[in-house]
Amino acid sequence: MVRTVYVNGEFVPEFEARISIFDRGFLFADSVYEVIAVLEGKLIDWDHHIKRLKRSLKSLDIFAPVNAKELLEAHRDIIKLNKLSDGLIYMQISRGSSERNFIIEDNYKASIVMFSQQVDLLGPHRLSRCLKILTLPEERWMHRDIKTTQLLAASLAKTKAHDLGYDDAWFVENGFITEGTSSNAFIVLKNNKIVTRKIGKVILPGVTRSSILEAAIFLGLEVEERPFSIKEAETAKEAFITSATNFIASVIEINEQIIGSGKVGRITKLLREQYIIDMKRTSV
Ligand code: PDD
Repeated sequence: MVRTVYVNGEFVPEFEARISIFDRGFLFADSVYEVIAVLEGKLIDWDHHIKRLKRSLKSLDIFAPVNAKELLEAHRDIIKLNKLSDGLIYMQISRGSSERNFIIEDNYKASIVMFSQQVDLLGPHRLSRCLKILTLPEERWMHRDIKTTQLLAASLAKTKAHDLGYDDAWFVENGFITEGTSSNAFIVLKNNKIVTRKIGKVILPGVTRSSILEAAIFLGLEVEERPFSIKEAETAKEAFITSATNFIASVIEINEQIIGSGKVGRITKLLREQYIIDMKRTSV
């Protein structure tokens, strides 16, 4: 099926979409993005995604000539035009095009693109996935809290993990896990305490991360936001990742060490059930 995509206010068939070769997103990764899940034709965690998008734009001083209401309308149009029930919408805002110049000029005009991807997010095959993780050295830049399209280090790490027979990689800095290549990383200790890195410059403040932590607190589970070591991860009772594309996915092996029973853990399951209830209730 040919998708209808969004480029700077226009909805066009995907093969007609055009962006300048001078676009700074293309030349300098001078762009930010969001990936928003869609369930039953509705957007998941919209407010949080828009809040983070605004923060990313502000951090890089990119002015986007659209407001949240217009972005919501465009997302809804993409859903309708592509008859999207379950899947994702990718949105990227770059600083736009100007002559190639390391110095950022004042007269840029941001460019915005959006497209959908159909994914059976709640399909049994997807929900029962059990991931094998490889830890790799952190090689990304120092502002991982800004959701930029500077994703080469993450893409290379994920590819390396895949080539070696793992599903994904977790980055390690100074002996502690930061996060996954495109997800936040969590472990559950023997006493059922959930541990995940505190937000700051070293990780992306995941939208799913914050909703899962809210679900954990609602369920009366204890949460500790602090760094955890490779050893702590390898000997955890459960481990999981969160992201808009995975919601919450179980990790059953880290560096070939089996985690817990080697199956989806009880806490992971509980969190997923609560998260899906919360998301369906708050979707827009
Ligand atoms: N990635 N950390 C990193 C480095 C990420 O790239 C992502 C998401 C997350 C999770 O954030 P959220 O829960 O808001 O999706 C954490 C998206 C899904 C991607 O690049 O496709």
